[in-house]
Amino acid sequence: MDLIELASVNFIYPDGTRALTDINISIKAGEKVAVLGANGAGKSTLFQLFNGLLQSTRGTVSVKGRVVEKAYLKEVRRMIGMVFQDPDDQLFSSTVQQEIAYGLINLGLEGGRMEQAASWALQVAGLAGYENKSPFNLSGGEKKRLALASVLAMQPEVLVLDEPTSSLDPVGAAKIIELLNGINGELGITLVFATHDVDVVPLMADRVYVMDKGEIKLSGPTDEVFARKDLIRSHNLRLPRVAHLAELLERDGQFRLPSFPLTIGQAKKAILEHIAENKAGAKNKAGME
Ligand SMILES: Nc1ncnc2c1ncn2[C@@H]1O[C@H](COP(=O)(O)OP(=O)(O)O)[C@@H](O)[C@H]1O
Ligand SMILES: [Mg+2]
Repeated sequence: MDLIELASVNFIYPDGTRALTDINISIKAGEKVAVLGANGAGKSTLFQLFNGLLQSTRGTVSVKGRVVEKAYLKEVRRMIGMVFQDPDDQLFSSTVQQEIAYGLINLGLEGGRMEQAASWALQVAGLAGYENKSPFNLSGGEKKRLALASVLAMQPEVLVLDEPTSSLDPVGAAKIIELLNGINGELGITLVFATHDVDVVPLMADRVYVMDKGEIKLSGPTDEVFARKDLIRSHNLRLPRVAHLAELLERDGQFRLPSFPLTIGQAKKAILEHIAENKAGAKNKAGME
């Protein structure tokens, strides 16, 4: 059974803006899924449908096989933890500790159990020792990690993150990516994230949905999606930087790597393989002469 399933979902805002058209999505437990699209593609709208913050105009949103409606909302929001794009929309307490405690108290946790859950989440998010600080005095990256920790503390099955790396500096972005990969790998929590940053996608996602103008235009495993270079570009996106470099080297006849790299790590491996193949080729040639 799919964890989250959207069937022919349409959404029109009260002012008549058509934000989503015939969206079909299915997310399985344990996956890391990216929703990639330029600004205005409909990603944030889509995410608000996952846990019933918005209701579809047409079509159904199901969580664990049951259609999301009023009587199911509490349970759905327990299962699906939502991390908003701007932590200032999420954070409101006067200390980090209170921020984390708020959701836990709402869940009915008290005393030692509440404190244990709070300190675990702060530890995971790399914020242990920040308990008495004001959320508003944290750096952008720390704020994002606090917003994440406050959701994580409630131990959701799925984390839905809207632009988790946007407006972060390179170190802050790298930290969040590492943290989220760890949360998925070690805790088994399913990740669904929206981004317009193509370089982030291959660092985190197993699978990608590409959105444009409220529609899903392309979906599949990350490497297969980025192999559709022209299609990616036609939806106001680009290839990851390293992939673009590999494409240019091949186009200009310099060399063709044994595999098409999407990340620095993949590029390094492909270049080393290419060098090894050339050396072996040169040796064979010399042996024949
Ligand atoms: N509250 C709203 N009322 C009317 N239109 C909206 C509202 N929020 C977003 N939209 C429109 O819906 C479309 C999708 O927006 P959004 O979901 O925010 O895209 P993304 O997150 O991919 O940038 C855009 O055309 C946007 O202008
Ligand atoms: Mg958005």
